[in-house]
Amino acid sequence: EKAGFDHFMLKEIHEQPKAYRDTMLGRIADDGLSVNLKELSMLDDYIRSISKVHIVACGTAYHAGLVGKSVIESLARIPVETDVASEYRYRSPIITPDTLVIVVSQSGETADTLAALREARRNGAKVLAITNVVGSSVAREADDVLVTWAGPEIAVASTKAYSSQLIAFYLLGLNLARVLGTQEQQTVKELIAALHQLPEQVESILTQSAVLKQVAESMANHRSLFFIGRGVDYAVAQEGSLKLKEISYIHSEAYAAGELKHGTLALIEDGVPVIALVTQEGLYEKTLSNIKEVKARGAHVLAVTNAGFEHEVAQSVDEVFSIPKTLPLLTPALSVVPLQLLSYYASLALGHDVDKPRNLAKSVTVE
Ligand code: BG6
Repeated sequence: EKAGFDHFMLKEIHEQPKAYRDTMLGRIADDGLSVNLKELSMLDDYIRSISKVHIVACGTAYHAGLVGKSVIESLARIPVETDVASEYRYRSPIITPDTLVIVVSQSGETADTLAALREARRNGAKVLAITNVVGSSVAREADDVLVTWAGPEIAVASTKAYSSQLIAFYLLGLNLARVLGTQEQQTVKELIAALHQLPEQVESILTQSAVLKQVAESMANHRSLFFIGRGVDYAVAQEGSLKLKEISYIHSEAYAAGELKHGTLALIEDGVPVIALVTQEGLYEKTLSNIKEVKARGAHVLAVTNAGFEHEVAQSVDEVFSIPKTLPLLTPALSVVPLQLLSYYASLALGHDVDKPRNLAKSVTVE
């Protein structure tokens, strides 16, 4: 049932190209000019009335929601807040009937997320669920459901469900943008063309996993490390850090690259591994200067950057992993893959139970 892979996690990492294709299937017009999510019951008039969006989720799904915020704000120009579900309910969030609440849950059974959904509905908001399980509690109780067609995910550490949630956000952002008229046709066309390329691009990343295995094995000797990035790279850094902690039990921290110097730089000492995400064109120079700050303190830096920029980055870091060229908003769907593989190989090197890490459950039905 592991289809020749040693672990479900590795199998699921390799299923991402298919998960991306299946999640896009039937949702993009054949001419490649628009996204129309016909399964949603929300009317255009309702979409035009949305004044703000709250994205609520737990764990890895929360990290997908952090990317979702950037996607919806940049494509549909609606203000978005992303919250962890266990905090959301208790901070008396301002939920109005013109708030669209998006809950994200692989299993659709997470108690904290379900409670947040109920709270949102009680306050008169519409709830859209992004979930991987069609008949789940979250799917049944939401007003609308956008299914991620990632297929069953067995490993506790989420991989293909997370990345399919990103695809769902791209489609949702483009759907909202179509109704609201917030994007030029040319921009939409380019985004859709780039979306269609993602599955093959993930395949090409997967062929380079040997390099990551080596890096992971040297990381496994360290007690603590850092992930840094700006913008959506910071969101992916948080997911990379969680993945590593979940299955390798190595402590790590994700930091907004520009914030490091305001507090935590003292923890960077000789040999500390730093994984820097450098995929946002407009922020290259800024992140490179943050990399120089950590290098000056002895950090060992692995940069994940875009093909075409790797030679420039190579001058400032110890190792470079390049991801195929895509649009800045879409890089998370590629850059997360090397981070998943790093965690996998680190866990393996340390002899841990990759698919069933200690103290964690796949789905938590208590609050
Ligand atoms: C956790 C799992 O407790 O629940 C995480 O261990 C997961 O891996 C989180 O991300 C949220 O789960 P779901 O099913 O709501 O996406």
